[in-house]
Amino acid sequence: MDSIVNIKNLSFKYDKIDILKRITLEVVTGNFISILGPNGSGKTTLLKNISSTLKPNNGSILIEMQDIRKIKHKELAKKLAVVHQSTEVHFDFSVYNVVMMGRFPYLKRFQSESKKDEEIVKEAMLNTSTWHLKDKSINEISGGEKQRVVIARALTQQPKVLLLDEPISHLDIKYQIEILDLCKRLNKEQNITVITTLHDINMASRYSDYIVLLKEGNIKEVDVPHKTLTEENIEEVYGIKVELINRNNDKRPIILPRSV
Ligand SMILES: Nc1ncnc2c1ncn2[C@@H]1O[C@H](COP(=O)(O)OP(=O)(O)OP(=O)(O)O)[C@@H](O)[C@H]1O
Ligand SMILES: [Mg+2]
Repeated sequence: MDSIVNIKNLSFKYDKIDILKRITLEVVTGNFISILGPNGSGKTTLLKNISSTLKPNNGSILIEMQDIRKIKHKELAKKLAVVHQSTEVHFDFSVYNVVMMGRFPYLKRFQSESKKDEEIVKEAMLNTSTWHLKDKSINEISGGEKQRVVIARALTQQPKVLLLDEPISHLDIKYQIEILDLCKRLNKEQNITVITTLHDINMASRYSDYIVLLKEGNIKEVDVPHKTLTEENIEEVYGIKVELINRNNDKRPIILPRSV
């Protein structure tokens, strides 16, 4: 199995405060990985280090065995696309133009989009069921629609890795399933590696190949859902007692908080 993201001994500080502490993690091509952990445990910071938005104080991150510090911004954007937690677009761009922005790594300075770019944009929009929104303003669509549009934009980068930060946190249950189903489909059909942070443990259990449990900037555990999501691990990381339900013995436990 080829590893696509290789994190070795990564440490990161904000203002001399250790936020990530010697993180080592190997992500295999084609995996769907969820990063779980309480507020402030370092999930977003870890994603920002992987996307090279933040620079580690120590350690290294390799993408396809290449050190990200040596990969130029546009080249990195062809390998890796990021969907941030909430994307604010301050101008009244059309949905179509917002998606087209994802083609930036492929355009030279002052070069305008070609037929090929248009085809890629259309395909990404059909894939995310956003084509019918193309002429609307980005600020006049719902939260769930916007999330799909931002994913469409990420897809036009034709990335090998999709990094998502809390992609479902503001969505109702229908859109949550829709977005995660979409990510899973892209993962399976296009072999795009998915690395996502999530707050919903049950969704992580249902969709992930592997779950990374973060606690105070350390990796507590990385494993398949039924091995990571144990009563002990959840109590240690989140400080709550839970009951696990194993339905159909599918190794994707359902987590039920015990009342206090
Ligand atoms: N720009 C910043 N400057 C200083 N400290 C920061 C900054 N951003 C985050 N932190 C701190 O780093 C720690 C990790 O934050 P991070 O955003 O990675 O957590 P998280 O796991 O994504 O949390 P959440 O679940 O709330 O999104 C927190 O203690 C936070 O206060
Ligand atoms: Mg976060």
